[in-house]
Amino acid sequence: MRYILSPSILSADFSKLAEDTAIAVKGGAEWLHIDVMDGAFVPNLSFGAPVIKCLRPASDAFFDVHLMIDRPERYIDDFLKAGADLICVHLEATEEIESIAEKVHGAGKMFAVAVKPATPAEALKPYLPLCDMVLVMTVEPGFGGQSFMADMMPKVAKFRALREDLGLSYHIQVDGGINLQTVIPAAQAGANVFVAGSAVFKPGETEKNAKSFIERFEQFDR
Ligand code: DX5
Ligand code: ZN
Repeated sequence: MRYILSPSILSADFSKLAEDTAIAVKGGAEWLHIDVMDGAFVPNLSFGAPVIKCLRPASDAFFDVHLMIDRPERYIDDFLKAGADLICVHLEATEEIESIAEKVHGAGKMFAVAVKPATPAEALKPYLPLCDMVLVMTVEPGFGGQSFMADMMPKVAKFRALREDLGLSYHIQVDGGINLQTVIPAAQAGANVFVAGSAVFKPGETEKNAKSFIERFEQFDR
């Protein structure tokens, strides 16, 4: 599978989001990871659909929207209208996975489900045929800049095995503590979409940091 870098805008400078994200894209990032937090599902607040709507005309990148919010079914229309290309909801946050998937696919967009560290891969098994991507959290969701949980790699490998067993083709994304070192075991376990916030967005270094990830991906392909 193709390797994709999805820099988390949570670590960007919000006063110049368009500029910062354009620099990451210039460095080779194909996707932008957009972390929405509600202060309830996670103990932190970020921003909502209006920010995505403002960024949309400023960027051609693929918008990978990670909803860390309770009962996300209340806001799916808003995020679709704002310009999301992929909507990812947490398995732990909703009982409406099927209807959300239907709505997202009905709009011609990609659907994904995320699992927190304590949630086993098996819990997502019934919904895998609906998923264009699964997101394995490699930190407790809520904050950027935390340490990578290497003990999540068996879960990544399990999703890769299930994909093969079930004849599916979803992407496997990892999110949290990904840097040029931790990306290696994550790729070995089977991940192909890498979220990185603090390891990409740094004043004056963002383009170089994104490029370093792309160079690392080239090493994986050898
Ligand atoms: C955490 C978010 C992540 C976070 C990643 O809840 O979902 O996307 O911003 O940041 P880093 O790469 O700094 O761990
Ligand atoms: Zn995220």
